[in-house]
Amino acid sequence: MARRKIIAGNWKMNKTPSEAVALAKELIPLVKNDDVDVVFCVPAIDIVPVVEAVKGTNIGVGAENLYIEDSGAYTGEISADMIKDAGAKYVIIGHSERREYFAETDEFLNKKVKKALEKDLIPILCCGETLEQREMGVTIDFVRFQIKSDLVGVSADDAKKVVIAYEPIWAIGTGKTATSDQAEEVCAAIRTCLAEIYDQQTADEIRIQYGGSMNAANAAELLSKPNIDGGLVGGASLKPDFGKVVNP
Ligand code: PGA
Repeated sequence: MARRKIIAGNWKMNKTPSEAVALAKELIPLVKNDDVDVVFCVPAIDIVPVVEAVKGTNIGVGAENLYIEDSGAYTGEISADMIKDAGAKYVIIGHSERREYFAETDEFLNKKVKKALEKDLIPILCCGETLEQREMGVTIDFVRFQIKSDLVGVSADDAKKVVIAYEPIWAIGTGKTATSDQAEEVCAAIRTCLAEIYDQQTADEIRIQYGGSMNAANAAELLSKPNIDGGLVGGASLKPDFGKVVNP
């Protein structure tokens, strides 16, 4: 079945609100493509101004994180309702930087996935192995473990809304992209895992992105693979290059 491509920029901790508006405006004409869902995932403080800046386009805006409670004494956190009310539709969950620097476990990420779905936000759920795991030959086992744990208790209908981002940690921000065959192998294994958890039809509907040093030069080749339905793009999403990832 034909899955609609989804290319998301992950701005990480870059761009002040005014810089974010300038970047969004610079990118708007470059990322125009009616056949692709384009998303800017931006720092929480940039959501409101970026939503305003992209009004009238079909660019979606996403948060980079959310908290599992609806409100209350959780100083510094933001809720799904806040993200939605600010106008964002997506939220990145379980990026490797959050797993590593903020000690986010799969059990915790499972709660985040469920909270996002409960509040009608589309989770972009990240997974991916370290270089050591790849060298040990446990990549697929590890990624399957992440996907299974992060989707515990998520219904098939909800799972169809989730976007999965396969991001080998050794390829993030390193300029070392996985080859398209390496990326396809793991994305296909993720789809097999989804078919085991749910059923083939559900697995066939779920979009799986590749992320890790994706850029204008390698995007077309990666996106040509049957199980790669888009990209989660860090560094290259902060530059006009992002336009060439969307329109190779
Ligand atoms: P990168 O980051 O494109 O800069 O490697 C990707 C990501 O972390 O989502």
